[in-house]
Amino acid sequence: IKWIEAKDYEDLSKKACDIFVEQLQNKPNSVIGLATGSTPIGLYKELVQQYHSGNVSFKDVVSFNLDEYVGIDPNNEASYHYFMNHHLFKHVDIQKENVHIPEGHSSDLETACRTYEQQIKEAGGIDLQVLGIGVNGHIGFNEPGTPFDSLTHIVELTQSTIEANQKYFEKPEDMPRKAITMGIQSILNAKKIILLISGETKQEAYDRLRTGIITEDLPASALHQHPDVTVIYTGVK
Ligand code: F6R
Repeated sequence: IKWIEAKDYEDLSKKACDIFVEQLQNKPNSVIGLATGSTPIGLYKELVQQYHSGNVSFKDVVSFNLDEYVGIDPNNEASYHYFMNHHLFKHVDIQKENVHIPEGHSSDLETACRTYEQQIKEAGGIDLQVLGIGVNGHIGFNEPGTPFDSLTHIVELTQSTIEANQKYFEKPEDMPRKAITMGIQSILNAKKIILLISGETKQEAYDRLRTGIITEDLPASALHQHPDVTVIYTGVK
């Protein structure tokens, strides 16, 4: 793992954006893996700016998101479909048919999981994956205990994740208890990975990751097994 300390959140977002811009300039038809949550919002804002400045185009880019809640309407403002449109897709020239987000609203979730893996494979695999980290060390919605060889699957969210994400729902009790997520193996299959860590709520997860100990109790520790991971962090000591 390569560790890069950012001065502040803006700097973290810019540093992550630089890596994306370089990737898309070198390979305009890159396959990119995207995350939701509060951490990458600044990165997406920077990318939209780079697009408007003409430095980057998404015309031939294919994207795959890490996860989506189960049983949520894609138009629900708390859905990850909505989040991605709102923060990135509607502002850039990505083609709708090239965007993939797990179909949490599907009536056949098992098939949706298998199809998702198949689509990633057919696209040639993910070139660059961005990740955030949960307070409990999750990546995607792979909660502690998830096998490192897992592919896209359905998960029960833990209490810690429910508490961290309920704020996005109008009525907290409306937050789904399940999600579809790319597995840890699906994530490790990406050629290059950047993990963004921002803010003191992530201190413990950061400290545990920094020890270098690889354990299923800390899903992010699987990243130590990958040859090309960059962690950009700020707000942790
Ligand atoms: C989101 C995702 C999650 C988040 C993590 C951190 O697609 O996969 O693993 O990255 O929960 O969320 P924030 O950035 O809101 O702290």
